[in-house]
Amino acid sequence: MSKIFTDTELPNIIDLKGIGQSYDGGENWIMKDLEFLVEDKPDQGQFVVILGMSGSGKSTLLRYIAGLQDPTEGDILINNQKVGEGDRVSMVFQQYSSLPWMTVLENVSLALRYKGVAAAEREDQAREIIELVGLAGHENKFAQYPNLSGGQLQRIAIARSIIANPRILLMDEPFGALDIRTRLNMQDLLTSIWRKFHSTIIFVTHDIAEAVYLADDIYILKSSPSRFVRHIDIDLPLVRSKETKRLPHYTELVHKVEDAMMEVSEMG
Ligand SMILES: Nc1ncnc2c1ncn2[C@@H]1O[C@H](COP(=O)(O)OP(=O)(O)OP(=O)(O)O)[C@@H](O)[C@H]1O
Ligand SMILES: [Mg+2]
Repeated sequence: MSKIFTDTELPNIIDLKGIGQSYDGGENWIMKDLEFLVEDKPDQGQFVVILGMSGSGKSTLLRYIAGLQDPTEGDILINNQKVGEGDRVSMVFQQYSSLPWMTVLENVSLALRYKGVAAAEREDQAREIIELVGLAGHENKFAQYPNLSGGQLQRIAIARSIIANPRILLMDEPFGALDIRTRLNMQDLLTSIWRKFHSTIIFVTHDIAEAVYLADDIYILKSSPSRFVRHIDIDLPLVRSKETKRLPHYTELVHKVEDAMMEVSEMG
């Protein structure tokens, strides 16, 4: 099989080496010798999508990169430093992660407060992002159901992570709970704003059409033990729009990824 990751002269932004994960003292390994490499494309950012069957370890990998969990074996380097040492990583979780005792405006400006941005400036920036995610008019509501719907709460979580302007943004099935209309709107919102921030986004989804629409690169994870076994270069125009989905090449890529997923699901 061809090599999945190629280390070129570009700087490595995320580098996982020899990762192993066991939860029973080394008897069973749910991950073994896993490698993952994302190179930095300066002034561009990039969109990497991870696909894999349920339980293949996608959320676990994001937790490693966010510094929320250590693997049993191996090294995690962010910008060539051990994870947690001065890097900027934000994560949008599978479940909503807004703070229900704060208003929408307070939730979104929180990251700026941690950075020491002055109150007036914080509010200006937060209002701009709230408008971008389509929540203008809801600024003073508490960030809880049923004041706001599930989709609106998830948009707050997305606004919170975008405003922090992280070098790396980890998104774990962020649109999983949204209805189709909100989901398509959020996809477009993400494509329209993320390149402005030059972030590297690592995005997990089960939706292949969504993966192809958003990604520059797709990597497929096999299970037991987890390891990346396919890379699909999404050679669509850099700027995506509704027209992208009408391109014959978009449909070809969706079929290619579906075929690859079926092959990988039979591996283990
Ligand atoms: N604390 C734990 N103890 C034992 N096994 C665990 C623990 N945490 C995770 N696992 C196992 O690790 C594997 C990977 O889990 P993970 O949540 O990363 O999968 P996933 O790819 O994100 O799945 P999904 O698509 O369903 O979200 C699963 O088999 C899970 O059961
Ligand atoms: Mg998961």
